[in-house]
Amino acid sequence: MIRLRDVCYVRLGTRDLDGATRYATAILGLEISERSRGAVYFKSDQREHTLCYFDGDPAEQVVAFEVDGRAELDAAGAELERLGHPVHRGSATEAGQRKVRDFIAFRDPTGNRIELAWRPQMGARRYHGERDAGITGFSHVGLCTTDAARDEAFWTTVCNARVSDRIGDAPLLRIDEIHHKIALFPTSRAGIQHINHQVESSDDVQRSFHFIRERGIPVVFGPGRHPTSSARFLYFEGPDGMVYEYSSGVRSIADELMYRERQFEFGPPGFCEWGAKPEIKEFKA
Ligand SMILES: [Fe+2]
Repeated sequence: MIRLRDVCYVRLGTRDLDGATRYATAILGLEISERSRGAVYFKSDQREHTLCYFDGDPAEQVVAFEVDGRAELDAAGAELERLGHPVHRGSATEAGQRKVRDFIAFRDPTGNRIELAWRPQMGARRYHGERDAGITGFSHVGLCTTDAARDEAFWTTVCNARVSDRIGDAPLLRIDEIHHKIALFPTSRAGIQHINHQVESSDDVQRSFHFIRERGIPVVFGPGRHPTSSARFLYFEGPDGMVYEYSSGVRSIADELMYRERQFEFGPPGFCEWGAKPEIKEFKA
């Protein structure tokens, strides 16, 4: 079994690197940790980077997970190959671009581009966002799935993910105590469905709602509260159609033995207990 320690970084291609950089700093509130030729790296917590925008096709979207060591990376590569997922071993240059010691790349059954990374670099400086969005860190991704049952089986049997709750057939998956680090949303394409950063409090969620709306950026869901994770949330549009989320107060599941996954309705009540209705295609029944 491939043991995922944590979600690590996201890499997004864009045709407008300057525009994406302006958005990531002035709107989202991230901090530039490095600019290199054709790529900008952003910090959101103690890690050296958790997001990278690079010159490229916006369809190029990668999410990476940290594994414990080189032996685990080697074993994961062999297991994925055995299961029919072609594996690319990262070159030293590619590992340098990701600020990790080593990594492998493959596609999950839907075709999402996934990387497993060893020894991601921590930052020497603490994160200080360009605006005070209250961000405490990069926390989870929504991934598209073309077959939720198949992909849930991949993440929970090939990897160590556990189902925390389901909204319809969409599973919210944990790999540590946090309620979910991966959420699978049924749709007809591959790609990252949304990117979450945690913020310190509900006040930060509400402040950002006004901040974002006043700047004419579409708010696509919220403010609201998820009945699943109990987090207060706000979803809004980013560059190239990406959806970003702030949330606060996500529950922890400390008791692995006693916890039982729960089923929620796929529709507005399953997504928000305050009555907010999503303008997100993948959240609509
Ligand atoms: Fe989310």
